[in-house]
Amino acid sequence: MATPATSGKTFFIETFGCQMNVHDSERVSGVLHARGYAQVERMEDAGLILFNTCSIRDKAAQKVFSRLSQFKALRKQGKQFAVLGCVAQQAGEAIFAKAPHVSLVAGSASYPRLGELLDRLEAGENRVTGLAAAETSAFETEFTRRDHPWRAYITIIEGCDKHCAYCIVPYTRGFERSRDSQAILREAAQLAAAGYTEVQLLGQNVNSWRDAGPARLSFAQLLTAVAGIPGLRRVRYTTSHPRDFTSDIVTAMAGHPGLCDHVHLPVQSGSNQVLARMRRGYTREQYLEKIALIQASPRPLAITTDLIVGFPGETDADFEATVELLEQVHYSGAFIFKYSPRPHTEAGAWPDDIPDSVKTERLMILQRRQQEIQARDNQDWVGRRLEVMVESYLEKLNQWQGRASSHRIVNFTGDLRLDSSGALPVFSRPLRPGQYAWVEIERAGANSLVGRLCAAPDAAALPSIPPGTAAALPMAASSR
Ligand code: SAH
Ligand code: SF4
Ligand code: F3S
Repeated sequence: MATPATSGKTFFIETFGCQMNVHDSERVSGVLHARGYAQVERMEDAGLILFNTCSIRDKAAQKVFSRLSQFKALRKQGKQFAVLGCVAQQAGEAIFAKAPHVSLVAGSASYPRLGELLDRLEAGENRVTGLAAAETSAFETEFTRRDHPWRAYITIIEGCDKHCAYCIVPYTRGFERSRDSQAILREAAQLAAAGYTEVQLLGQNVNSWRDAGPARLSFAQLLTAVAGIPGLRRVRYTTSHPRDFTSDIVTAMAGHPGLCDHVHLPVQSGSNQVLARMRRGYTREQYLEKIALIQASPRPLAITTDLIVGFPGETDADFEATVELLEQVHYSGAFIFKYSPRPHTEAGAWPDDIPDSVKTERLMILQRRQQEIQARDNQDWVGRRLEVMVESYLEKLNQWQGRASSHRIVNFTGDLRLDSSGALPVFSRPLRPGQYAWVEIERAGANSLVGRLCAAPDAAALPSIPPGTAAALPMAASSR
């Protein structure tokens, strides 16, 4: 959480990109806090301004440069700027030439020695770099500050060795390094003891994790062990790589309700020709075998994916194969991206031969098809009860918003009344983000389910709830 500006050292951090970056920012914040810095919410109030950047597509990478030029005037007030993360690793010292007001450029492999880099920065050096590639398997920082109030991230594997032809991640994040299962379990137990009920295990390819410690747990065993920690109600993990997705993971998920019923399994393309050129390491048929494993689970599991349109050489027939795959799998969600050539990648050297107008058209076709599929499939939830973790209150809609275990967004109302000032509708039993509530689904759209607060389905002894008595609802209080 941000703390008010003090007269001492202050920092502001802005994060772009994936959850691993979000968690890296927590680690960087942890180191800064331990050195006596206070975190502020406005860039203008900070002495040190850090951008933790993403380089996955060109647009993402450009964002940081527009932020840097937007705020360069602040340098005159003595503020220092730092560029961290994937753009730092990718562009390196070239950042100083493009944005001379930057004093520190460091990639994620250098965070374990961030203290030393900050010593130099504080001593007045204005060209400090931490750009060495990962040399050791250690990627832990000494301190981590948890910014998210109810979900805690745990990185279990860093880097990537897969070298898909389009992807910059192996370059920006380095080779694959896994943590010891016992260190992971210790961290998860500490988080549970601190009151977190949801943890998310992270890795660029989280299921490529191999136990670096003597216990030699499989990834499926690790999932079960984390889910068994008292106090943890929801365990998520992302992102899974299809090549390393094995049936024991499904067995673990089927057997443990604490493991959320959601698998994110990016396919990228439905065409074997494109998959081969992308160097994904599986065919459409092999991918569909993994989907069949997941869909055969006795406990229904939601599946989401990532797709790239307009990869070099993607023909109409290749694209059609991707559309057909969507129809076949029935994903509950899909992130669809236009191919963007990246430096240091194999495909980055190939002609980017699909015109942007065609990429846009393909993107829109896929998005439309996926929305239709979701709108139809989500109807199955109407009339059913789901446990939702409350995330926020949407004032405009007079609704609470949360997520089901399957990661579906659920908006809901309950027994509303005005608060004492007569201004804000509140539930007669106040909800707080991080709590769990049961919701009966009444309507479904493509992107969310909508319902009403209700009793838990196993609360059979409870009488049906007459209007105005929602305070009687069983509500698991979050321990934080
Ligand atoms: N490790 C994960 C993905 C991590 S990157 C996996 O292999 O599935 C997140 C997503 O960004 C990818 O799934 C891909 O869909 C997208 N992506 C990566 N490089 C891209 C590029 N050059 N252009 C467009 N999208 C890209
Ligand atoms: Fe990138 Fe491929 Fe590694 Fe995923 S598996 S991070 S897409 S190189
Ligand atoms: Fe972006 Fe780096 Fe994550 S490129 S998606 S921040 S690993």
